[in-house]
Amino acid sequence: MIVPKGDTEKQAFLRDKSIKQGDDKPNVYIQKILAKLKPKSKLVDLGCGTAHIIEKLARRYENALYTGLDISEAMINLARNNTQGLTNIELVQGDGLELPFQSSEFDIVINRLADYSLADVYRILKKCGYFIEYGLGPDSDREIIEFFPDRCEEESFFFPEDPVNWKKEVTEKINELAFCNIKIEDYKCKDYYKNKEEIMDLIEMVPLLKDFDRKKNSEKINELVEKYTEEQGIAITWHYYILEAMKL
Ligand SMILES: C[S@@+](CC[C@H](N)C(=O)[O-])C[C@H]1O[C@@H](n2cnc3c(N)ncnc32)[C@H](O)[C@@H]1O
Repeated sequence: MIVPKGDTEKQAFLRDKSIKQGDDKPNVYIQKILAKLKPKSKLVDLGCGTAHIIEKLARRYENALYTGLDISEAMINLARNNTQGLTNIELVQGDGLELPFQSSEFDIVINRLADYSLADVYRILKKCGYFIEYGLGPDSDREIIEFFPDRCEEESFFFPEDPVNWKKEVTEKINELAFCNIKIEDYKCKDYYKNKEEIMDLIEMVPLLKDFDRKKNSEKINELVEKYTEEQGIAITWHYYILEAMKL
């Protein structure tokens, strides 16, 4: 039996809203995955959330088979709505730390910002199959962390021990298993938020901070908005990496 955890209904709603408002951050990631797909490839997205990644893949490349796994019932319900009519997608409620799949079942395993077990990823990948991970770089959301340094929800974030050589830390875990062709690239951009409400939605969606309270923390958010407002909106750094590795 699955112990209910993962994103709550509110988080799921906020993430779905943010993605549908035109969050195009995963574009590079999607291109990298598309480059690896072949006819009849089997791909699984661990912690698929609202299923926006596999939904885009399934529309652009119809010849592969896609599975989305997420532990949250709220997310799986949203994912079902978002992928209606796509017969090449299967959705599973399950735990990324204990994958309910057979060994050597998939050609590609992908993960974007969700919990998983790397040993299990290795187990379910076929020989020469690819693992493609989208994770956070150390500068992500740094403007928010600057205002709430002690309240950061470390579980939702990657805090490297060495902020300069952090890529080494990310690839170390991969090097412990028999992977080759390991590649990591990082990307940085600014996201522009229209108003204070959108910044607070972002904080609650991740969640970025411990014990965040929209009323109690209102003043601090005002200060942040004042400091980081530019012509296009409130500028918040988005820093991510894409890691690719092939199972030997
Ligand atoms: C930050 S969201 C990312 C969702 C999606 N990958 C995306 O890029 O939009 C994290 C997701 O991981 C799910 N999750 C958290 N812990 C999990 C676990 N142990 N197994 C599977 N999914 C998990 C959450 O329910 C949530 O949908």
